[in-house]
Amino acid sequence: MIPTSNQWSRKWLTVSWRSLAALALAALAVVGGAGVVAADAVAGKNKAEACAGCHGEKGISEIENTPSLAGQPDLFIQWQLIFFRAGARKNEVMGPLAEQLGNEDVRDLGAYFASLKPPESPAAAPDDHPDLTGAGKKVAAAGRCASCHGDKFAGSKAAARIAGQHEEYITKALHDYKSGVRSGGGVAAMAEVAYPLSDDEIAALAHYLARL
Ligand code: HEC
Ligand code: HEC
Repeated sequence: MIPTSNQWSRKWLTVSWRSLAALALAALAVVGGAGVVAADAVAGKNKAEACAGCHGEKGISEIENTPSLAGQPDLFIQWQLIFFRAGARKNEVMGPLAEQLGNEDVRDLGAYFASLKPPESPAAAPDDHPDLTGAGKKVAAAGRCASCHGDKFAGSKAAARIAGQHEEYITKALHDYKSGVRSGGGVAAMAEVAYPLSDDEIAALAHYLARL
C-alpha cells in the first residue's frame, strides 16, 4: 500500500521529534553526565594543550579578544563548547575546533579549566578611568547582574565568571548578545539583559568588571 501524504508527514513529524528528543538527551548526557563517566581534569589538562596558544598557559589569556577560561564554572565551559560544536554559537575559530571534541573531551576540559586559579584582580593597578568604574558599578547593580553571576561575579553553573575577564572581550560579548549574534542557552537571559544597554553602559560595565 502506498502511504498517503498525510501518513508520510505524520511519520516525518514523529521522526523529527524523535531526533530532537535525542539531541536534547545527548546534550544532557554530556553536561549532566558526570555520573556516567567521571570527568577527568588530568586528562583535560593534556587535551587543553591545544588551547593554550590562544587561551593562555594556565587558562589566562593574554589576547584582548580571547577570553580567559581559568576558574570558569565547569558547566559554563561545557555548554559553550556544545554551543560551538552545534553551531548555536558562531565563531570561525572555535566552531571547527569544537567539532573535533567528543563528549568526554568536553567534560574533561570543563573539569580542567574550572580547577584553575582565576585571573588575579588588577584592582591595585592604577585605574585610568575611575569614572567608568563608578558608572559600571551602578549599571551592574541596576541590572542585577549579581543575581545570576554571583555576588563576586565569579559565575555559577551555566552563568559565566565575568570578574577579571578582558575588558575588550566583555564589551564584545555584551554587543554580541545585544545584536543577537550570540543568544546563549536556556531562556536567552543575556539577550534580554543586554538589549536595553547603551554603548556607554556596556563600556562602563566592561571596565568595572574587568578590574574586579
Ligand atoms: C586560535 C585561537 C583559539 C584556540 C586554539 C582555542 N580557542 Fe577557544 N576561543 C577563541 C576565541 C577568539 C574565543 C572568543 C569567541 C567569541 O568572541 O565569541 C574563544 C572562546 C572560547 C570559549 C567561550 C568562553 C567564554 O568566556 O565565552 C571556550 C569555552 C573556549 N574558547 C574553549 C576552548 C578550548 C577548550 C580550546 C582547546 C580545545 C580552545 N578554546 C582553543 C580562540 C581560540
Ligand atoms: C537571569 C540571569 C542573568 C543575569 C541577570 C545576567 N546574566 Fe550574564 N549571563 C547569564 C548566563 C546564563 C550566561 C551564559 C550565556 C551563554 O550561554 O552565552 C551569561 C553570560 C554573560 C557574559 C558572557 C561571558 C563570557 O565569558 O562569554 C557576560 C559578559 C555577561 N553575562 C554579563 C552580564 C552583565 C554585565 C549583567 C548585568 C547587566 C548580566 N550578565 C546579567 C545569566 C545572566
